[in-house]
Amino acid sequence: MKDADIQDLSFDDWDELKFPRKTTQDFDEVVERAISRRGFLGGVLAFGSGAAVMGTGMLKGTTAMAAQASRFAFEQLAPQTDGTVHVPEGYAWDVLVRWGDPLFSDAPAFDAATGIPTEGSDRVFGENTDGMELFHKGDTELLVVNSEYVNTKVNLPVEQEGSPVSADDIVRLQNFQGVSVMEVAEGADGWQVVVDSPYNRRIHHRTPMVIDGPAAGHDLLKTEDDPTGTASLGTFNNCGSGRTPWGTYLTCEENFNGYFGTTEDLVLDDVHAAGFQRYGVSTDVEPGRYNYHGYDARFDISKHPNEPHRAGYIVEIDPWNPDATPVKHTALGRFKHENAAYALAPDGRVVVYMGDDERGEYMYKWVSRDIYVPGGDTSTLLSEGRLHVAKFNDDGTGIWLALTPEDTGMSEAEIAVFTRMAGTAVRATTMDRPEWIAVHPHAVEAYCCLTNNSRRGALDDNGNVVTNAAGEPMVPNAPNPREINRYGQIVRWRPHNDDHGASTFDWDLYVMAGNPTVHADGPFAGSANINAGNLFNSPDGMQIDTSGLIWIQTDGDDDNAGDFAGMGNNQMLAGDPMTGEIRRFLTGPKGSEVTGLTWSADRRTMFVGIQHPSAPFPDGEGSLPRSAIVVVKRDDNALVG
Ligand code: FEO
Ligand code: CA
Ligand code: CA
Repeated sequence: MKDADIQDLSFDDWDELKFPRKTTQDFDEVVERAISRRGFLGGVLAFGSGAAVMGTGMLKGTTAMAAQASRFAFEQLAPQTDGTVHVPEGYAWDVLVRWGDPLFSDAPAFDAATGIPTEGSDRVFGENTDGMELFHKGDTELLVVNSEYVNTKVNLPVEQEGSPVSADDIVRLQNFQGVSVMEVAEGADGWQVVVDSPYNRRIHHRTPMVIDGPAAGHDLLKTEDDPTGTASLGTFNNCGSGRTPWGTYLTCEENFNGYFGTTEDLVLDDVHAAGFQRYGVSTDVEPGRYNYHGYDARFDISKHPNEPHRAGYIVEIDPWNPDATPVKHTALGRFKHENAAYALAPDGRVVVYMGDDERGEYMYKWVSRDIYVPGGDTSTLLSEGRLHVAKFNDDGTGIWLALTPEDTGMSEAEIAVFTRMAGTAVRATTMDRPEWIAVHPHAVEAYCCLTNNSRRGALDDNGNVVTNAAGEPMVPNAPNPREINRYGQIVRWRPHNDDHGASTFDWDLYVMAGNPTVHADGPFAGSANINAGNLFNSPDGMQIDTSGLIWIQTDGDDDNAGDFAGMGNNQMLAGDPMTGEIRRFLTGPKGSEVTGLTWSADRRTMFVGIQHPSAPFPDGEGSLPRSAIVVVKRDDNALVG
């Protein structure tokens, strides 16, 4: 594959390209083996009846579904395949902001042919919108939004085919990523960004950060430019979001590995070699996806081998203070962080649930040492605590395994930096790519989207089951029961004693996506709450609104053919946790992923992110496709969440 073609790949496809596996799999053989794997859910047939795989919680749910009226205030939207956004009758959408729109009046204008020049590229809304949260005080509302990655082909001169050729090119790419803080307001013309608001801020790949927690100051984090190991530059691949009870924003560093590379053949010690291998940092002399290392020595691991240890964290940002230095919290671990969903334990400790989005990686929970006291000092609450990793048992129970020096054989700092290895040491359950986690605001339960795992149960060229990066074979397990899982599922857990701080829980599957119109039964038909009307694949983004409805966003195959026939473009659906019912609410333009959801202070507006459309969205025929945030309201201005 040519370098230019690599720039067209999603991060996921790029990762897959670098991880060889058997490319063809006899489909009937796969289904046969999956169905015959009895006994693994206590002797029941795991597939064939959607309800059978769901555990007792879901069985009750499906029974209730028949008896209860729907709680949805809208009729289901049909699947769509065109280049724009659709919402149900009685609702309307509009564009709030596109990549490249100004946050400040001195920003350069967006030019469809040349994009934005480097000078001023940190004065506009970033590219590839992702997780977001809204904060408000009085009448002031701030929208804080992640910009996950950049399209190098669009941002660099056409003749370069996506490859940077100068340090200036790298600065431009770095400026379009990170986090945008912007004031928004609703007026006679609808919602607008308040250009030049004193709160507006761009945080990018060179913004100064403080490192705190158990790894701060450790040798693994020290570099030539920062011999203290406590001050880094930039936050990377900002994927999902989170918020704290005290009103700060959490941005989650996901595929940070892709920004690092080497310009020379490497001689590595065992610690660095193992770390780069487990986290996917390339040790080959190649330009890679961004080639930062070709023009910015900080990203060249032959010169600065500890720099990748300073990325892959949860970063806390105070949206109300543009001068505040963001804090990288090493206590919450280093992995490909999707999002961060908080809960409060009954004793006041802060619990943060987090997924590591890679095939066969794990789900985590962090519990603070200190308790949250409203109005008290919260500056160190995310600095001291204990990481745990999920182990799911086949009988519908699970345990959060504490990642302690005693149980992992690693120091506290090593657990913080090489969290994946700590999870492997205690034999955590390999998952089908944990994406967003959402905590129910009323019931003591939480949900995680397991988006898909095309390699679960697949065989390599030697006939062995494909492993994760730790070398653990990705055989099916209870919460990830499907081989070649192209559709995904959502797992739900209920902590014992109604305490998110408890170390044990019960779990079931809220939904297994599938396609019963293509696969009449078997594992690919999906669970009982999937039907011809609400087909989708690859659940990813997720939020639960104040009424307890689950909003599910997808990032999957939008071919609308074969296994994906009838699903249409990526979409956002609403789910009722009480009945199991799921209904399609919004569809994105062709090629896009729907990701990021939050609400206005009055809950009469939804903000929904549209990332990487391939259709000329939002400005129509002849325009450049641009990621954008749209607002969705009811025509009668009633509550929407
Ligand atoms: Fe950035 Fe796993 O999504
Ligand atoms: Ca995602
Ligand atoms: Ca995804």
